[in-house]
Amino acid sequence: MKELLINERELIKKKKKSPPRIIISGAPASGKGTQAEKISSEFNVVHLSTGDMLRAEVAKKSEVGLKAQEFMNNGKLVPNEVMIAIVIARIHEPDCEERGWLLDGFPRTDDQAEALNANGVSCDVFVHLDVPDEALVDRVIGRRSDPVTGKIYHMQFNPPPEGEVKERLVQRSDDTAEKVKTRIKAFHENLNPLLDRYKDKTLTIDGNQKPENIWGKMYGSIARSVKFRY
Ligand code: AP5
Ligand code: MG
Repeated sequence: MKELLINERELIKKKKKSPPRIIISGAPASGKGTQAEKISSEFNVVHLSTGDMLRAEVAKKSEVGLKAQEFMNNGKLVPNEVMIAIVIARIHEPDCEERGWLLDGFPRTDDQAEALNANGVSCDVFVHLDVPDEALVDRVIGRRSDPVTGKIYHMQFNPPPEGEVKERLVQRSDDTAEKVKTRIKAFHENLNPLLDRYKDKTLTIDGNQKPENIWGKMYGSIARSVKFRY
């Protein structure tokens, strides 16, 4: 019994030394951000959404934002060198080192994955949300987000509360039926090398079901991958 307690303590220490490192991947509007909200809250990791990071740079009109804006507005991928520099710098900041991280939307190309590798960054699990293309357009068109809380809604599938929140919701400029086609195409062009590279870490989840069912399916597997006791 005593030995067991000591082993448990060792486990907790180990857990602190090696915080979770999770990647969530999926097509545009596959539900990465929606699930990321739950994952980051449950595992207390820093949520790094590259799309959100870029939109913040665009809003600030920073050098990076000015470079990224045109690509984003056209539904195209921002060049690897811009993305890699941002993510590698952010992932080595103290909060990420201490609490671990959830990368949402990165790596999106094999070159980006290679950059993580070259910088000694590996992951515990690569979650792949699998959603058929036909479902993505409706999700994109109905999406709205709350600029105050960052919460993601859908006018039909996850409607916002009436009143103040609903009135302040915004729609992303790249959320049009036309632009999402370009984004989906870029996703498919880059997916296979990523699945191949992370094949031993990949957790594929059917993302074409209710968000709470998706979470129910992924939670246990992520917990095991990051060696949490639950
Ligand atoms: P980013 O913001 O990452 O866009 P994305 O990958 O296209 O993904 P989304 O954020 O659109 O969708 P999501 O999967 O998070 O879905 P969500 O949960 O919101 O990137 C934007 C742009 O930045 C890129 O196009 C590119 O230009 C650039 N960029 C970013 N990272 C880059 C990188 N690494 N390299 C190069 N360029 C990069 O859900 C969508 C909607 O569906 C919501 O309304 C939600 O309520 C609803 N929903 C969610 N789950 C479900 C469900 N299960 N059933 C029904 N509805 C659901
Ligand atoms: Mg997102």
